[in-house]
Amino acid sequence: MKNIAIFASGTGSNFLAIHKAIKEGKLKANIKLFITDNFESDALKRAKDLHIETYSFNPKEFATKKDYEKEIIGFLSNHQIDLVVLAGYMRIIGATILEQYSNRIVNIHPSLLPLYKGKDAVGQALKARDKKTGVTVHFVDEGIDTGKIIMQEEIRIEPSWDRHDLELQIHKVEHEIYYKAIKKILEVQK
Ligand code: GRF
Repeated sequence: MKNIAIFASGTGSNFLAIHKAIKEGKLKANIKLFITDNFESDALKRAKDLHIETYSFNPKEFATKKDYEKEIIGFLSNHQIDLVVLAGYMRIIGATILEQYSNRIVNIHPSLLPLYKGKDAVGQALKARDKKTGVTVHFVDEGIDTGKIIMQEEIRIEPSWDRHDLELQIHKVEHEIYYKAIKKILEVQK
């Protein structure tokens, strides 16, 4: 069985969807570790409720990014993590972690990459009055949302939709595709 670590800073709905897929037997993996940079996040509360081991850190308490990333690597290697899954983690993964976990870190992004990398991809699609957008699961590299694409799904934007409607749809699709993409990667890793 492969071990995954979830990194999240916010609500954690993708984290829960992955957890649910595992419970339902759709994804064979263990969530061995949950890591957050936000002590107040709902995602952290949920991880604790699920009795998953957590590591919470405050980046401001470390002199450099390298210092807290070294600490994170300690946890990842102690838990023999095979794959790092970013699920709304609001920090850029730095060189220290990337060097050790290259091709073993995935992220989910609410756009059809390479379109609308970075912040507020949903807002950018709406502002451009695009007729479609989507969700992308990709490997993490040193760029921002530039890594190799693993899975992508389109969403048609209905003219009547406001931001809330589109976000609902995006989350729905994210919850369906993230675990499938993780499954695909873990199968290749065998
Ligand atoms: C998702 O929309 C994802 O695309 C982005 O962050 C959001 C996290 O949502 N990277 P949640 O915390 O999983 O609900």
